[in-house]
Amino acid sequence: MALTFDVTRRQDVVSDADRAAVLADPGFGNHFTDHMVTVTWTKGDGWHDAKVTPYGPISIDPSAAVLHYAQEIFEGMKAYRHADGSVWTFRPQQNAARFARSATRMALPVMQEADFIDALRALVTMDEAWVPPAGGGETSLYLRPFMFASEPFLGVRPANEVTFCVIASPAGAYFSGGVKPVSLWISTDFARAGDGGTGAAKCGGNYASSLAGQLEGAEHGCDQAVFLDSSSHTYIEELGGMNLFIVYKDGRLVTPELTGSILEGVTRDSILELSKDLGLQPEERRIPIQEWKDGAASGEIAEVFACGTAAVVTPVGELKWDGGSCDHRREGHDDKVALQIRSSLLDIQYGRVEDSRGWLTRL
Ligand code: COI
Repeated sequence: MALTFDVTRRQDVVSDADRAAVLADPGFGNHFTDHMVTVTWTKGDGWHDAKVTPYGPISIDPSAAVLHYAQEIFEGMKAYRHADGSVWTFRPQQNAARFARSATRMALPVMQEADFIDALRALVTMDEAWVPPAGGGETSLYLRPFMFASEPFLGVRPANEVTFCVIASPAGAYFSGGVKPVSLWISTDFARAGDGGTGAAKCGGNYASSLAGQLEGAEHGCDQAVFLDSSSHTYIEELGGMNLFIVYKDGRLVTPELTGSILEGVTRDSILELSKDLGLQPEERRIPIQEWKDGAASGEIAEVFACGTAAVVTPVGELKWDGGSCDHRREGHDDKVALQIRSSLLDIQYGRVEDSRGWLTRL
């Protein structure tokens, strides 16, 4: 049976003026809306107590399994305001399906697609004023559904009590410099995920395991780390929280194939689809890191870009490794393909072009 969300009386804590100031320059992940969704799952009873309540701290027992064994998953999505004032989200069915796959991998309960989307709708309906106005640049309301093992129990087994939440955060550019090329460090000391591990699941542990590589990158003056496969340290996988694409001069658009240790990005999938409209030839295959170094040196590689819901499409300017680097920011370099793909995606998301693939869902 579908969940019914019990909606408390609306309680805005942020004034209209303060909200408008935040929406004018939200940054990423700094501000949160006035309300949140919570739903509880208990073994035997399933999902129940679906609520929209004022945003605030969650009280959990110090022995809650998530705090010890990281049984947790999440999603990242956005709500976009169109010129007529309506609010839409992008391919939520894909996120619901990935959330279900992540849940299965982490031995968490599956939430039905309709309940997942209703939860987003319940929050966005309550906090609609937090969806940035149309025409105000590329700002949106970032939606963060997540689920964690809230049962107080220290034995290692799947939790019998789980909490699902949705919070929302007005979002501008993910990187503080806006859409400017980022630099990447090839992490060889650390892998993000391994064979048979949780790399394809959107679980907090994958992000935690990317942080040491990111720190290593920062020590070498880089914005992000790029991770290689954990067994041969040869093939490109992804960044800590984004997939990667390489654009060849001859029009090939290549991204690492999904080997089980790479996140199945919704933006990644959408780009593979959209690229055909732009006359590119998409390819999914294993890419040796040496191919990137050689292609950059010979000029065969025209561009590299990273993608994800939060960062959309972000050009990569430079790749560094222990003992070398290659620079994509050569004279005349303009990240044309990355920016074209970025605009095509944003035009659909903000309703500026026809949604011929039926990717948008009204919230
Ligand atoms: C997203 O792109 O939505 C993510 O979940 C990745 C995270 C780096 C913000």
